[in-house]
Amino acid sequence: MKVNISGITEGTMIEVSENQTTVLIANVGGSFYAVGGVCPHMRCHLRKGTLEGVTVTCPCHGSSFDVTTGKMLSWVANMSRDLARLSRFFGWAKDIKKYEVRVEGDFLELS
Ligand code: FES
Repeated sequence: MKVNISGITEGTMIEVSENQTTVLIANVGGSFYAVGGVCPHMRCHLRKGTLEGVTVTCPCHGSSFDVTTGKMLSWVANMSRDLARLSRFFGWAKDIKKYEVRVEGDFLELS
């Protein structure tokens, strides 16, 4: 997938989709990162959330992920502590996929 990144300013993110795959592309400090664009909790689109530094926070229930690694940072912040613990125990808490990117000029290629 090749994406024009000329409009993605620092601290912003976009979503692109191809073949039923949704990817979030974020510009953090002038570097571009790509991760799965759908939250593993209940499939909300992360582009509607917030990006602070390397952390994208899901707009629906507050799970957060590191856009540079795809690692989950917090799981379902708006859920009770017991339910959040159960959620982790049963393996519902997940990282998001990280894609490798190659930037050439105004274009980014995902692999
Ligand atoms: S859908 Fe993202 S935290 Fe619930």
